[in-house]
Amino acid sequence: MWVFDLSSEKFLAINKAACGLYGYSPEEFQKLTLSGIVGNEEARRLVSELKRKGSAVNLWRHHTRSGRLIEVETSVHEIPYRRRRAGLAVLIDVTERRRLEEQLRQAQKMEAVGMLAGGVAHDFNNLLTIITGYSQLILNNLRENDPNRHSAEQIMKAGERAGALTKQLLAFSRRQVLQPKVLDLNMLVKTLSAMLQRLIGEDIELRLVLSPDLGRVYADPGQLEQVIMNLVVNARDAMAAGGMLTIRTANAVIEEGPEGGRLATKPGPHVLLAVSDTGHGMDERTRNRLFEPFFTTKSVGRGTGLGLSTVFGIVKQSGGSLNVESAPGRGTIFEVYLPRIEQPLAVEEEKPKESAPRGTETILLVEDDEMVRSLVRETLRREGYKVIDAPDPIEACRLAENYKGEIHLLISDIVMPKLNGRDLAVQITQLRPGTKVLFMSGYAETGLVKAGINERAEFLQKPFTPGALAEKVRKVLEGDSNRANGSGRTEVAS
Ligand SMILES: Nc1ncnc2c1ncn2[C@@H]1O[C@H](COP(=O)(O)OP(=O)(O)OP(=O)(O)O)[C@@H](O)[C@H]1O
Ligand SMILES: [Mg+2]
Repeated sequence: MWVFDLSSEKFLAINKAACGLYGYSPEEFQKLTLSGIVGNEEARRLVSELKRKGSAVNLWRHHTRSGRLIEVETSVHEIPYRRRRAGLAVLIDVTERRRLEEQLRQAQKMEAVGMLAGGVAHDFNNLLTIITGYSQLILNNLRENDPNRHSAEQIMKAGERAGALTKQLLAFSRRQVLQPKVLDLNMLVKTLSAMLQRLIGEDIELRLVLSPDLGRVYADPGQLEQVIMNLVVNARDAMAAGGMLTIRTANAVIEEGPEGGRLATKPGPHVLLAVSDTGHGMDERTRNRLFEPFFTTKSVGRGTGLGLSTVFGIVKQSGGSLNVESAPGRGTIFEVYLPRIEQPLAVEEEKPKESAPRGTETILLVEDDEMVRSLVRETLRREGYKVIDAPDPIEACRLAENYKGEIHLLISDIVMPKLNGRDLAVQITQLRPGTKVLFMSGYAETGLVKAGINERAEFLQKPFTPGALAEKVRKVLEGDSNRANGSGRTEVAS
């Protein structure tokens, strides 16, 4: 609280909290005037309003003694004080509240855009699976010199490109199926470095500063490569005239409190991956919109504005967080924080030899999208499999109960009305413990990653080609990793 003289604007009384907030001692305050704190214009406005109406409510943004910018809500009333006309100001520091509100607003915006993007991408994936799938089937039936071959190839290519785009959108909406592993980021960066150097050209120097005792993270290696590539390409684009690009790794601990809170992630041990450049940097406007899909400052054809959206989605879905520091002309640092874990690195298994993707086993196929279902069915029948199929889980259970022969494999969509693919798999494998499970989805429902489903169960990401489907089915049928155990519960379901 302050009391100040309306005519001289001198402070007559200041309480302790005000001294603490502004950083001036009571003696220093006595020497100051209202204008000295809030500026001439604001002081003049306030005094005239007080004289006219007897009270005023304001929001001030101004600097403290140390130069820190604070936001203060004020309510001022005219009072008599030692026989003078004075103003009594009650001040509330709302800097932190404002910052949290802004953070929440940003998060809500990203959430809303993410839902939209994810929804569109989901439906799109089904359509693309049909487009690329059927063009592949047409191509298989066309002779080498058929005049329609070129047309079918163009459809196929366009479908694949559209698939790549949808994948980025799914990544942003945090709905893609991740396949996380225990990872050493140093190893990942080193393996990528030769390719990165080629990517950035000779005018930019690539420097790696890798912490020798770096902890491990649990993340999808392919996705993290994507994160690094996108950050590196952006850094390159910001240094048209050359410069220095640094990739740094380090162990970091995120503290509780405002410093850590800024990062919007759980406090605790983390691994930091920072990509910094000496490029042109960004102003505040760009910095605020950076992660929005399709936000780009690059000319048409040079950027789609999906790079950082993808980065954002992958990092968030992996339980991490992002921090950006940048100013015009001062370069940029992107910091990726991922939770550090204790588990040791997994030993890489030898890849089993590729076998001819043909078979005779019986497959139960469950997919609610009619066109996708018939595409998968047709593909598998051509490969020699016996396929029984159902449009929904209820029908699938009925088939599984009544079918006389053995069912070797269940192929199921994950997101379906009534019963989801995971619960269906539990029911089917209780009924038939020998049945293996393959999920297909273009969409990871929330909780899927947490349930650990993607570690054990086999997945086929939509959109897929008939070739990829056939190969995957063969692999699942031959592997013994996801067979149900004797108790009637599948490993997938745990
Ligand atoms: N290292 C950086 N230095 C300066 N500006 C950057 C940097 N990284 C990103 N930006 C800014 O953020 C915008 C969005 O980046 P983002 O990667 O999402 O899209 P893009 O690079 O424009 O296009 P895309 O990555 O899809 O090809 C960029 O257009 C650029 O203005
Ligand atoms: Mg980019």
